[in-house]
Amino acid sequence: MRIYDIIAKKRDSGELTREEISFFVKGCTSGEIPDYQTSALLMAIYLNGMTDRETSDLTSEMAKSGDTADMSAIEGLTVDKHSTGGVGDKTTLIVVPIVAALGGKVAKMSGRGLGHTGGTVDKLESIPGFRTELSPKEFFDNVNALGAAMIGQSGNLAPADKKLYALRDVTATVSCIPLIASSIMSKKLASGSDCIVLDVKVGSGAFMKSLDDAKQLARQMVNIGNACGRKVSAVLTNMDIPLGFAVGNSLEVIEAVKVLKGEQKGDLYDVCIELAANMFALTSGKSLDECRELAKGSVENGSAFRKLKEIVNAQSGDVKVLDDTDLFAKAKYSFNITADESGYISRLDSEKIGISSVVLGAGRETKGEKIDHSAGIILNKKTGDLVNKGDVLATLYTNNQDKLCNAEKIFLSAVEFSDEKPNKEPLIY
Ligand code: URA
Repeated sequence: MRIYDIIAKKRDSGELTREEISFFVKGCTSGEIPDYQTSALLMAIYLNGMTDRETSDLTSEMAKSGDTADMSAIEGLTVDKHSTGGVGDKTTLIVVPIVAALGGKVAKMSGRGLGHTGGTVDKLESIPGFRTELSPKEFFDNVNALGAAMIGQSGNLAPADKKLYALRDVTATVSCIPLIASSIMSKKLASGSDCIVLDVKVGSGAFMKSLDDAKQLARQMVNIGNACGRKVSAVLTNMDIPLGFAVGNSLEVIEAVKVLKGEQKGDLYDVCIELAANMFALTSGKSLDECRELAKGSVENGSAFRKLKEIVNAQSGDVKVLDDTDLFAKAKYSFNITADESGYISRLDSEKIGISSVVLGAGRETKGEKIDHSAGIILNKKTGDLVNKGDVLATLYTNNQDKLCNAEKIFLSAVEFSDEKPNKEPLIY
């Protein structure tokens, strides 16, 4: 078998056999297939798609490309959550402590930023000292003792995804249903949680721009998980507007802390309550309504914020920055973007806002690039807000002054105005 022939077959819209998919996954994981051929096949898949059978074969091959975690060391049912990726999506930092505070067991494995979207591991690493790599024993011990641990895609778990994820990130091959479904579900299957909640994002800042595509992706992932004996639910949420106000790693941790301290309600809080309720409902068997109330209660009584501090402390993070978020390292340069006309904001293209934050240094433009944890954007206005000419729309933060001009241009191209107030779209579909 030759990778050249597999690429040519997919280029010509052929259906790959299980053997061909297995050959590809093994070869790219071992390094025998060079990155340029892997990237060529990724682009052919992106352009020509995969059947459900190919997607499920790709997922299984990726899931068994490395170790599989044995969660039996954790007492009780474990629950994991995964987002398909969004802009300003810091929900993991909020829902994990909520569910753990309620008594759930959250064994959370997260990713880094992908394309224009942020990743939880990058956000966690903006907390000084925080270790996103734990030994399996530490990971299990922390979940047993505290109810949660948050780590990166550790060791040799689904290494095929690690490889493909990093290449997709820089070859414009992310927003593709079979590649997203196999990427997420291979990790979730290898990481062994009993219950999985998928946050499938829809809209301009998501990889799925339409509700129909998001439903298709959600169904495919739920079916793959159920076929492997996992309890899976998917929540479809709006990503036409960035979630919350902060985009960028430490800026998002600061916002997550505000929500957990009960200081910020609104879209981010609402989505987090829904996700946490779904997670706790899957593991506890309680009704969704009851779980929503419990989740809100954990924010109100402070137990969720205390739990975040326990998790951070157990992973060597400096909890002082959570008690006083002014202690987070600040970007050297900040710049206010102002409105050059008056009217309602009728659209904020979240993908462009994500790209603007990547340009500022909050994400990667080349594989393995170091990111600037303090870079990013704080939105001052969002879709539906009435603004006057000269009002501050957003503030940009960076340590590289040369990036400001381009980032501003991209940000401004994301904003549209109208004379009439736009209709409000659903937050949770
Ligand atoms: N998150 C993942 O883990 N993989 C994707 O492809 C998209 C979002």
